[in-house]
Amino acid sequence: MSERPRVFVARRIPDEGLEPVAAACEMDLWEDDLPPPRDELLRRIAGCDGVLTLLTDRVDDAFLDAAGPGLRVVSNYAVGFDNIDVAACAARGVKVGNTPGVLTETTADLAWALLMAAARRLPEADRYVRDGRWKTWGPLLLLGPDVHGATLGIVGFGRIGQALARRAQGFGMRILYHDVTELPADVTGPLGATYLPLEELLAQSDFVSLHVNLSPVTRHLIDRESLGWMKPNAVLVNTSRGPVVDQAALADALRDGVIWAAALDVTDPEPISMDDPLVGLDNCLIVPHIASASRATRGKMAAMAAANLLAGVRGEPLPTPVSAPAS
Ligand code: DGY
Repeated sequence: MSERPRVFVARRIPDEGLEPVAAACEMDLWEDDLPPPRDELLRRIAGCDGVLTLLTDRVDDAFLDAAGPGLRVVSNYAVGFDNIDVAACAARGVKVGNTPGVLTETTADLAWALLMAAARRLPEADRYVRDGRWKTWGPLLLLGPDVHGATLGIVGFGRIGQALARRAQGFGMRILYHDVTELPADVTGPLGATYLPLEELLAQSDFVSLHVNLSPVTRHLIDRESLGWMKPNAVLVNTSRGPVVDQAALADALRDGVIWAAALDVTDPEPISMDDPLVGLDNCLIVPHIASASRATRGKMAAMAAANLLAGVRGEPLPTPVSAPAS
């Protein structure tokens, strides 16, 4: 029998992660582009020392039962870990790792791109050209709001929210933020960011960008009521998690002019159903959860996830552990 740790890797990740894992472990790699079906996942992890998961793999008691008592680590290839029951892992002594920090700037880049694209109606404008509808220069053609000088409300002022604020500074925007607590002046001062309660932030912002973790508190943080607090010219950007927004309420708000536009990197569910009313709305831009999708960043995430996996199977402290919530 092999002495090398047994690990299951739930999807092909960049070589920066796969190579060190393959070199040190008996690696079972799920090669398909789609996630392993649940029963297949549970079958393949049986007897593993470590599992490298993606945000599409649910880690709960059934997962931990299926893996068995030898499981030492779950390494998530993502900074978010709402797919993992961290308390259940802690109760069984299974360490959990994630990939913070390395995707901050790349994610903020995409949030910024979505904000700009929604404001200046780029997908609609592109379709207009390709559909052969471009006949002349039009004084009223595809008008949108200015980004420069507008007010940006950032909900969730952690690493990525702050990185977005840095981009907004270059556009002379007024920056508001909301978080569970007010942040120290040495963080907010250089960014020129002002704290506001959520309702006031939504009421004053021309652009609202969401950067909160998904939790029972943030599920449907943006719902029918909070959409009603927003300006009719407002643009909502979501690169956090789909369920932070009540999608049915958003579709109504976009259709009825309660807000002006939305740009979503994340939806609920993923992929979004083609029957979802948002799909038919021109003022809703949707991309398939690609905020961290630069070659360099995905490579760094892979190296980090591999480092957590290898440390975990060796019984060493994880470089970037996730701690169990206080009970
Ligand atoms: C994450 O890391 O949580 C993103 O959603 C995927 O990069």
